[in-house]
Amino acid sequence: MRISQTGNSRRSPISFAAASSPQPMPRFDVTIAGELNLDLILYGLPEQQQPERELLADRMTLTLGASSAIVAHNLAALGSRVGFQSRIGDDALGKIALERLQQGGVDVSQVRRVAGATTTGLTVILHHELWRNILTYMGTIAELTWDDLDLSYLADARHFHLSSLYLQRGLLPRVTELLQYLKGKGLTISLDTNDDPDDRWEGLQEILQHVDIFLPNEREARKAAGTEDLDIAIEKLSKMVPLVVVKLGRKGAMAQRGTERFTSPAREVVAVDTVGAGDSFDAGFLHQYVRGADLQTCLASGNLAGALSTTRPGGTEAFRDAKHREQFLRGH
Ligand SMILES: Nc1ncnc2c1ncn2[C@@H]1O[C@H](COP(=O)(O)OP(=O)(O)OP(=O)(O)O)[C@@H](O)[C@H]1O
Ligand SMILES: [Mg+2]
Repeated sequence: MRISQTGNSRRSPISFAAASSPQPMPRFDVTIAGELNLDLILYGLPEQQQPERELLADRMTLTLGASSAIVAHNLAALGSRVGFQSRIGDDALGKIALERLQQGGVDVSQVRRVAGATTTGLTVILHHELWRNILTYMGTIAELTWDDLDLSYLADARHFHLSSLYLQRGLLPRVTELLQYLKGKGLTISLDTNDDPDDRWEGLQEILQHVDIFLPNEREARKAAGTEDLDIAIEKLSKMVPLVVVKLGRKGAMAQRGTERFTSPAREVVAVDTVGAGDSFDAGFLHQYVRGADLQTCLASGNLAGALSTTRPGGTEAFRDAKHREQFLRGH
């Protein structure tokens, strides 16, 4: 972990020429640059949310959140070598999030902890009987920029994954450049946009030109393609990206590679919480992909990891408990 004294003491930008070539055997299977924060999840809130009333939850979990961090954590729990770059505040929540990621086996040596006005982000998830509120304070999530990145560290891998594209507001203007650079270094690239809070989906077509695997859910696929029809959306996206993998919740997943279509059913589980299931799917899929597995095996591994995630609250609790995780994976 790198610690800076103030928010202004940034390192100078790294030029392409200064970045070193990757080793013949890369240090990491997957590198990720993105958000690191906690999720505070409250369960069992009343269906009606009346202003000014005190509403009582019956359970709560404070757990590692952030799509990028969940993918990193769960990839490492499955046995991949993962390097992670991020920017957090010098505060208690940032410290807990960092410890969780490190305990999961992720290399966090390049996470920047920056003391300053902005604190680490936080997502609060309120579970009512039939619906959820998802409230995010962006904090340092939006402040990760190109200047925070160590390009040679990110390039020392087989694969680079980017999550939550539209939360990475500081990085977004140079994402295309970043992906172009990493592709030039021989890495394959995956992208899970997750939702766009502004619902504009700007710049995606250009970014997708540098992506090998696009991992949206059903709604995101339709939004990204600008059509309500999922089949047409997948068709359109498959002309922009070599491999489109669409997550379909309890229906499993679907993939399109060129003109070939693949489907893979979800695993039967008693799901207690689907928070982070999509990120866990990404981890399961990529864990096999970087090992050169065939597409059907990658999809099955994604569905298995997604299902495992739903057996515990949050996105990483089921992976963090090694006994539970191994038992589940053996049993399926
Ligand atoms: N109820 C369920 N039963 C079994 N598997 C599930 C269930 N819900 C989700 N999954 C698994 O998790 C994967 C991802 O779920 P989903 O389609 O909800 O992703 P997402 O919308 O991207 O999720 P996230 O909210 O984490 O971003 C599915 O493809 C499936 O394999
Ligand atoms: Mg998702």
